[in-house]
Amino acid sequence: MFNLSNIIVFSIGGNKIQGTLHSDLAITMPHVGAFSLWGNQIYGKIPISISNASNLYQLQLDENRLSGNVPSLEKLENLFVLNLYTNHLGHGIQGDLDFVCTLVNNTKLGILSIQNNNFGGVFPKCIRNFSRTFSVLGIEHNNILGRIPDGIGNLNNLEVLRASQNQLSGPIPFDIGRLKKLKKFYIDSNFLSGTIPHSIGNLTLLIELALDVNKLKGNIPSSLGDCQNLVRMTLSHNNLSGSIPPQVLALSSLSILLNLSSNYLTGELSAEVEKLKNLGELDVSKNRLSGLLPNNLGSCVSLEELFLDGNLFEGPIPSSLSSLRGLAALDVSENNLSGKVPEFLASFGALKYLNLSFNDFEGVIPSEGVFKNSSATFVEGNNKLCGGITELHLSRCNSEKSSNTSLRLKFVIVAVILGVTLIFLFLLIMLLRKKKEQQPTTTCAENSLLRLSYQSILRATNGFSTQNLVGLGGFGSVYRGILEETGEVIAVKVLNLLNHGASRSFLAECEVLKNIRHRNLVKLLTTISGVDYQGNDFKALVYEFMVNGSLEDWLHPPAGTNEPKTIRNLNLFQRLNMAIDVAHALEYLHHHCEILIIHCDLKPSNILLDEEMVAHISDFGLAKILSADKLNYSASQSSSLGLRGTVGYAPPEYGMGSELSTKGDVYSYGILLLEMFTGKRPTDEIFEEGLSLHNFVKTTLPERMTEIIDPILLQEKVRQGTKKDIILSGNIIENDRCLQCMNSVLEIGLTCCTELPSERVDMCDVVTELCSIRDQIYLTQLGGLC
Ligand SMILES: *[C@@H]1O[C@H](CO)[C@@H](O)[C@H](O)[C@H]1NC(C)=O
Ligand SMILES: *[C@@H]1O[C@H](CO)[C@@H](O)[C@H](O)[C@H]1NC(C)=O
Ligand SMILES: *[C@@H]1O[C@H](CO)[C@@H](O)[C@H](O)[C@H]1NC(C)=O
Ligand SMILES: *[C@@H]1O[C@H](CO)[C@@H](O)[C@H](O)[C@H]1NC(C)=O
Ligand SMILES: *[C@@H]1O[C@H](CO)[C@@H](O)[C@H](O)[C@H]1NC(C)=O
Ligand SMILES: *[C@@H]1O[C@H](CO)[C@@H](O)[C@H](O)[C@H]1NC(C)=O
Ligand SMILES: *[C@@H]1O[C@H](CO)[C@@H](O)[C@H](O)[C@H]1NC(C)=O
Ligand SMILES: *[C@@H]1O[C@H](CO)[C@@H](O)[C@H](O)[C@H]1NC(C)=O
Repeated sequence: MFNLSNIIVFSIGGNKIQGTLHSDLAITMPHVGAFSLWGNQIYGKIPISISNASNLYQLQLDENRLSGNVPSLEKLENLFVLNLYTNHLGHGIQGDLDFVCTLVNNTKLGILSIQNNNFGGVFPKCIRNFSRTFSVLGIEHNNILGRIPDGIGNLNNLEVLRASQNQLSGPIPFDIGRLKKLKKFYIDSNFLSGTIPHSIGNLTLLIELALDVNKLKGNIPSSLGDCQNLVRMTLSHNNLSGSIPPQVLALSSLSILLNLSSNYLTGELSAEVEKLKNLGELDVSKNRLSGLLPNNLGSCVSLEELFLDGNLFEGPIPSSLSSLRGLAALDVSENNLSGKVPEFLASFGALKYLNLSFNDFEGVIPSEGVFKNSSATFVEGNNKLCGGITELHLSRCNSEKSSNTSLRLKFVIVAVILGVTLIFLFLLIMLLRKKKEQQPTTTCAENSLLRLSYQSILRATNGFSTQNLVGLGGFGSVYRGILEETGEVIAVKVLNLLNHGASRSFLAECEVLKNIRHRNLVKLLTTISGVDYQGNDFKALVYEFMVNGSLEDWLHPPAGTNEPKTIRNLNLFQRLNMAIDVAHALEYLHHHCEILIIHCDLKPSNILLDEEMVAHISDFGLAKILSADKLNYSASQSSSLGLRGTVGYAPPEYGMGSELSTKGDVYSYGILLLEMFTGKRPTDEIFEEGLSLHNFVKTTLPERMTEIIDPILLQEKVRQGTKKDIILSGNIIENDRCLQCMNSVLEIGLTCCTELPSERVDMCDVVTELCSIRDQIYLTQLGGLC
C-alpha cells in the first residue's frame, strides 16, 4: 500500500490494523495530503521521512501505539490538523516537545492535539509565535513542566486550550484575557499557583472552565460574572478564599456543573443563587461557608445534585427546597443544621443519596421514599433524631401515651378544619354561581400563583392588538403580552370557540399541564374562562413567553423577514441540544410522570425556544392522558377525538385507526429529528409517491450523507476550514467525527420512525444515545470545531 505513489488521501482510521509505518513514507507517497490512521494498532516510530511530506494538510495518527520522538515538521507548510493524541510518544524528558517549535512558520496550522502521551519537558514558549489561525491546542495528560508562557495571548483565534493533568506551575498569565475566542479552557490537575487573573472576565465566549486541583489562592474574581456563556465551571481543590462573588452565582448560563468545593471560601451563600435555574449540579462542599441556607435555593429547579457538606451552615433546611423535585443526591452532612428533617424529601422520586450526618436535626425522621433505604440515607451524628426504619438505628420516638392524646387532638383538629372548609366551600360555590354570568373567572390552574382577569389580559396585550399577535393556529391566536403588575412577559392563547374542537383542546391542555412540570415543557401560568365585554364566551391559556419563537421559524425562516438569514442558522450543537431537550420532555411524559401522557402533535411549530435556546414542548391541545393502568385503556376512548396530529408527523398506524400510544409520539419525534438535521419537511414536495423523508435519509446513509445534511451544517464546517476534507476524500464519514455524530443522530431518527410501531425504540433509549453522542463531541478535541 505504501507504493501507491499517486495517492492523495490515505484514510484507514477506526479499524484494527496492526503493524508499523514504512520508513520511506514521504518518498513512496509524494503527493499525500491527508494521512489518517487514527484508532488502529500501529506501533513503532513515526518515520523521519514524514518531514518531507510537504503536501500534508492532515496528519491523524491518534489512538495507536506509536512511540519515540516526533520528527521535525518544519516543511509541512500546508499542515492544518496534527493529531498525535493517545499514543506512547515521548520519553518524559526535556526535548520531547522540540517538534512543536518546528511548526512556528506553518501558517495554516489550526489544530495540534498531542494529549495522552508521554511528552516531557517545559511548555514550549514558541507557542506564542504560532499561526494566527491556530484554534485548538490539546496537551493534557503528559508530563509537561514549567509555566504557561506569557504571550500565549497572541493566539487570538484559540478556541480550545486543554492542558490538564500535567505538572505545570507558576501563575496563570494575565495575558490569558486576550484569548477572546476561547471557548474551552482546561488546566486542572497541575501545580498552578498565584491568583486567578481578573482578566479572565474578558473571555466572554468561554463555555467550559476547569481550574480545579491546583494551588490557586486569593479570591474568586468577580469578573467571572462576565463569562455569560459558561455552562460548566470547576474551581475545586485549590486554596481559594474570600466569599463567593454574587456575580458568579448569577451566571444563569451554568447548566452542567458549578464546583467550588474544597477551598477556604467564607461568608454566606448569597441569595443570588436563585439565578442558577438551569444548573444540574452545585457543589460548594468542604469550605467555610456559614449562615442560613438561602430560601432562594428553591429556585434552582434543575438541580440534580447538591453538595453543601463540610461547611458551617446553620438553621433549618428551607422549605422552599421542596421545589427541587429532580434531586438525585443531596449532601448536607457536617454542618450545624437544625430543625426537623423535611417530609418533602420523602416524595422526591429520584433521590438516591441523602446525607444528613453530623448536624443537629431533631424530631421524627420520615420513613417513606428515600428514607426507606438505609443504603441511600445517612443520619449518624444527629442525637436528637428518632424513628425511621430500624436499619438507621435511631432511638424510638417518645411514649405511646402522649402520641395517643396527640392522636385524639389531631382528630379533633381535622374534624374542625373539615367542617369549616365545607361551610366555606358551600359559600364559595354560591358566590361563584352568582358571579359566573358577569365576570370572567380563573379556572383550572389551581396550583398557579397567578390570578388574572379578562381585563388584565386585555391591558397586557394592548387590547389584543395585531402588533402583539405572534401566532395563528387552528384553535386560536397567540398574543404576546406584558403584565402591568409585574412586568412579566407572557404568551396568551385565545381560543377560537367557533371552532368545534377548541373547547375540548382547552380542557385537554388544562388537564395535562395543571399537574406536570418539567424544564423542557412550556409552563402554563394560568387559564381564563368566562365571558368577554361583548358577552361572548372567552377562554384563554397564559404561558411564559418564549423569546426565540418556535423551532419551525428557525428551521424554515419565513421568506421576507427583515432579519438577515445568517442570524437564524442553528449549529450542530444547538440542534443536538434541542433534540435532547425534546427527548427529555417526551421521556418525562411517557415514563416519569405519575400519569402517562401522549402529546399527539409533535412538530417543529410546537417546539418553543427560550432566551437560552432551550427547547420546550408546547401545545397540549391534542394530548391524551392514559390511565396509569395502561391495559384498561380502550381504543374507543381515543376515537372520539377526530384529530390525530398533523400530516407528515402523525404515525401511519393512526391513519388506520390504531389506538394512541407512546410509539406514536416516538414516530413524530423521529421525523422531527430527521427534519432538524436535513432541513427538509416531511411534506416537502420532493417526497412524492413512494419516497418519504424516512427512506430519503435511509438510502443515503452513510456514504452519501453530505447530500442530505442541512447545507447550513456543512457551511459551518466550511467556515472552519475543513471543507477540503469533504471535497478531497470520497469517504468522509470515516474521517470526520462531526459527520459521524450527525450520522448517528440520523440513525436514531430512523429507528424512531420505522413503519411498525413495535420496532420503534422508546424515549429512554433515545435520551441515552443522544446524550452519549453529545459526550463524544465534547470529548474529542474537535469539539471546539463542531
Ligand atoms: C515497492 O516499490 C519498490 C520500488 O519500486 C519495490 O522494490 C518494492 O518491492 C515494492 N513493494 C511492494 C510491496 O510492492
Ligand atoms: C528529504 O528530501 C531530501 C531531498 O529529496 C532528501 O535529501 C532527504 O534525505 C529527505 N529527508 C528525509 C528525512 O527523508
Ligand atoms: C521561521 O521563520 C523565521 C524567519 O523566516 C526563521 O528565522 C526561522 O528559522 C524559521 N523557523 C523554523 C522552525 O522554520
Ligand atoms: C515570538 O513572539 C515573541 C513575543 O511575542 C516575540 O518577541 C518574538 O520576536 C517572536 N519570535 C519570532 C521568531 O517571531
Ligand atoms: C480586556 O478587554 C478590555 C476591553 O476590550 C481591554 O481594554 C483589556 O485590555 C482586556 N484585558 C486583557 C487582560 O486582555
Ligand atoms: C455522609 O457524610 C459523612 C460526613 O460527611 C461521611 O463521613 C460519610 O462518608 C457520608 N456517607 C457517604 C455514603 O458518603
Ligand atoms: C451551632 O448552632 C448553635 C445554635 O443553633 C450554636 O449555639 C452553636 O455554637 C453552633 N455550633 C457551631 C460549631 O457553630
Ligand atoms: C437503595 O439505595 C441504593 C443506593 O442508592 C441503591 O443502589 C438501591 O437500589 C436502593 N434500594 C432500593 C430497594 O431502592
